[in-house]
Amino acid sequence: MSDTQPPGIPTIRTIAMPADTNPAGDIFGGWLMSQMDLAAGSVAALTARGRSATVAVEGMKFHRPVKVGDEVSLYAEIVQVGRTSMRIRVEAWRRERHGDDGERVTEAVFTFVALDASGAARPVTA
Ligand SMILES: CC(C)(COP(=O)(O)OP(=O)(O)OC[C@H]1O[C@@H](n2cnc3c(N)ncnc32)[C@H](O)[C@@H]1OP(=O)(O)O)[C@@H](O)C(=O)NCCC(=O)NCCS
Repeated sequence: MSDTQPPGIPTIRTIAMPADTNPAGDIFGGWLMSQMDLAAGSVAALTARGRSATVAVEGMKFHRPVKVGDEVSLYAEIVQVGRTSMRIRVEAWRRERHGDDGERVTEAVFTFVALDASGAARPVTA
């Protein structure tokens, strides 16, 4: 992905709240990662038509800080489907509450595995 905001509707759009800050007052990186995981999980669930779990996160990058009140948009897209796994690229973008401009704040590739009812890996297409 480039520095251009991804096209289309984000998988998740939310507001960064004071409860999500780190001790320095910026938004906690773990909160951002959890939002990314939620976005990737939503795409995985739809793709696998069922339960799935995160098994790996590659290339986690924090480009810019997120501030309280920012609107945070999570864009998630499938980049590869294996037998039981799905690789999903996620970018987070922030928009300052009173402004028009967006900037990319994070990116990573999440790997999810489709699971059966017992929690074992199953084919994505099953
Ligand atoms: C998901 C889980 C059941 C898979 O166990 P497993 O059957 O031993 O997994 P396998 O080694 O057969 O791998 C399954 C798939 O994941 C892929 N995979 C496994 N580990 C991976 C890793 N570290 N990075 C990338 N892909 C990985 C494998 O390549 C395989 O893909 P494919 O079927 O498309 O070829 C098990 O790892 C698990 O329960 N992990 C914990 C998940 C979890 O709790 N996540 C956090 C909360 S959602």
